[in-house]
Amino acid sequence: MEAHDLRPILEAAVRAPSVHNTQPWRFFVHPASAASRDVIDVLADRERLLAVADPFGRELHISCGAAIELARIGGRSTGRSCTVHLLPDAHAPDRLAEISLGGAEPPTPEEERLAEAVSLRYTERGRFEDRPVPKELLEEMQGCAEEFETWVRPLDRPGDETVAAVLVARAGEIESANPEYESELTAWSGERLGASDGIPASVLPPPDEQPRGSPFRLRDFAGDAEAGHVTEERPPRPEHPLVVLFGTAGNDKYHWLQAGRALGRCLLVAASAGVAASPMTQVLEVVSTRAMLTKELGLVGHPQVLVRMGYAHGHQRAPRRPLDEVVTYSEGPAAGGVGPR
Ligand SMILES: Cc1cc2nc3c(=O)[nH]c(=O)nc-3n(C[C@H](O)[C@H](O)[C@H](O)COP(=O)(O)O)c2cc1C
Repeated sequence: MEAHDLRPILEAAVRAPSVHNTQPWRFFVHPASAASRDVIDVLADRERLLAVADPFGRELHISCGAAIELARIGGRSTGRSCTVHLLPDAHAPDRLAEISLGGAEPPTPEEERLAEAVSLRYTERGRFEDRPVPKELLEEMQGCAEEFETWVRPLDRPGDETVAAVLVARAGEIESANPEYESELTAWSGERLGASDGIPASVLPPPDEQPRGSPFRLRDFAGDAEAGHVTEERPPRPEHPLVVLFGTAGNDKYHWLQAGRALGRCLLVAASAGVAASPMTQVLEVVSTRAMLTKELGLVGHPQVLVRMGYAHGHQRAPRRPLDEVVTYSEGPAAGGVGPR
């Protein structure tokens, strides 16, 4: 039986965005069985849960959902059939997905385009160019997200942005006032020697960058509340990002994973069109601001990720853990209900 190289698939998976770059995933690879089907199990790594910002693991699952979709795209780019079965085992709740790789099936041009975008995608926290994101891109993302039972709602009605910006700032204040939140954030940011996770200063905009002319306050990874503030010497540069909310009908593990898959796919669609994104999720971590956002925007369903998108020039890429830290090769082929428990 032919032995397939699964590395490109795993390499694509770990390029997924994750909250605080926690990379809260593990992969168990089961070599091909008699049916010539390789199986990759995706598991949640709960040791990487943000216990303060994300106590229920909502963002952990969204992050893993993105990794699952990037793995699927990586799998298709290797020219094999690739199917995803979410939550395959009711008795193993942290076994989030079983990805099955079968026989030859050439990727479509669209799948090739998305696979190329895996290494182009990154989180942009600096300012965007003063150039609107085309409506067609939004529509394409909405179509992709629907495949995962996820809606993408632009904040384009009068007052939407103001409401969201006020609540984003309010959530930032509430979280920053909590010393436990601050110590968790500090543990995942700054220069952590040899770290292959978290948010190093190198991925943040330089402190002297001209401030964004945008009402949205971003999460303060630098521990510098003054960074990016407008002063007389530093007038803001206008930017008009597209601001969108990803949301789902349900608010459970399954829907969080689906929202993550939609996020992963849409960010690749955007990256392949030269558009970068910056999630702003504090407003959805704080119960009161999340409820107010839902009410004020008249949302039907549950908001999962708020993202600003636009054209940018790109800072350095965030680090990733080496594959051998996150991948385990199992001894035998996958059978019904295999996988670590
Ligand atoms: C669920 C989720 C929530 C996130 N929330 C924020 C956020 O509030 N602020 C921010 O700057 N980045 C946020 N990010 C982006 C991550 O920090 C980023 O994906 C990670 O650092 C890896 O970097 P990369 O996207 O450039 O590969 C979020 C990502 C995910 C998946």
